[in-house]
Amino acid sequence: MFSQEQLNKFSTQETPFYYYDLALLRRTLEACSTASSKYNFHVHYAMKANVDPRVLDTIRSFKIGADCVSGGEVKKAIECGFTNDKVVFAGVGKSDPEINYALDQDIFCFNVESIQELEIINELALQKGKTAKVALRINPNVNAYTHKYITTGLEENKFGINQWEFEKVAAAIKILSNIECIGLHFHIGSQITDFNVFKSLCIKVNEIVNWFTNHHFNIKVINVGGGLGVDYYNPDTNNIVDFETYFRIFDSFLERSANQEVHFELGRALVANCGSLISRVLFVKYGQVTNFAILDAGMTELMRPALYQAYHKIENLSKDHNVKNKKYDVVGPICESTDCFGKAVELPDTNRGDLIAIRTAGAYGEVMASNYNLRNKVNVIYNE
Ligand code: LLP
Repeated sequence: MFSQEQLNKFSTQETPFYYYDLALLRRTLEACSTASSKYNFHVHYAMKANVDPRVLDTIRSFKIGADCVSGGEVKKAIECGFTNDKVVFAGVGKSDPEINYALDQDIFCFNVESIQELEIINELALQKGKTAKVALRINPNVNAYTHKYITTGLEENKFGINQWEFEKVAAAIKILSNIECIGLHFHIGSQITDFNVFKSLCIKVNEIVNWFTNHHFNIKVINVGGGLGVDYYNPDTNNIVDFETYFRIFDSFLERSANQEVHFELGRALVANCGSLISRVLFVKYGQVTNFAILDAGMTELMRPALYQAYHKIENLSKDHNVKNKKYDVVGPICESTDCFGKAVELPDTNRGDLIAIRTAGAYGEVMASNYNLRNKVNVIYNE
């Protein structure tokens, strides 16, 4: 729900634009910090979810680390003031220049996904006379029960080292002189809303950490990834995720010794709810089967519905939102049939010029924008 003051501000802006509520972001970060610090858990922010400068600055001010998946993200994190020793570099395909850059920056650690990658990082570190700290990304074969396009922890996915490769990896690490293996990393998928999935993950992680400990590895860091889902259906009544239960599950089910740190890489749960995409209706088309509300924002500004059939709540901000007397397919202007934000969406009578909010768009929204059809870069406004 937006206040009258916010609506007045929106009505004077050129659309489409992303609206970031930095006050809500701060409340979310506070809730996350309070819940995680009870157990001394370390939280890194998964930069891929949103790299807006003000959003990043707000997150950094909570003194959390940065989880990066490209040289560009590592650079951005450091430029934004995330300290180098809290920057992690993950990703299944890191290029040599990216690895060299991260080595030069003395980042906290590389999350490594294959033996070949270990060998290359070792070789590049050797050339620089450095030792690279690494965590092995393990594919634990745990089902995240989320959309198949955002599932990562099953053997059929390209990510991580599989259990049948452990002996080989262990042997390789022992002979790589410029690698120090400090931990294990897991990430099984995104938008996970069933907390039992995290319990299953803990049980599997315990087994795998034991295997490595029994093979004389000193596992100092257990990184359980991100994936905590948000409520896309109730952005007003449930706008901060249940961090308390989430972290409690890991405290209850993850075995750790006194010298082991537990790390998390949260993206969506921190930023999704603080963002909305605000757009105007360009035209309304009445058909015999379907009515269309055609917006000035499209899949170029928010790709999630087109790519993952993702649901985002859509509201007409110019009309009484309690009235829902018409159904529209809410679509964008892009020349693609998948450029649709929602089918048969119940809305009040909607007209040209009405302001439309697409909610819970702070994660994987603006970052995934493209200029397909030579679209302009989307504007951004903030609530302090
Ligand atoms: N760690 C790793 C290794 C990841 O691959 C990801 C997300 C995260 C952490 C953060 O996950 P989160 O806490 O945000 O769920 N574009 C998709 C989501 C892709 C997620 C990619 N990896 C979407 O819009 O739903």
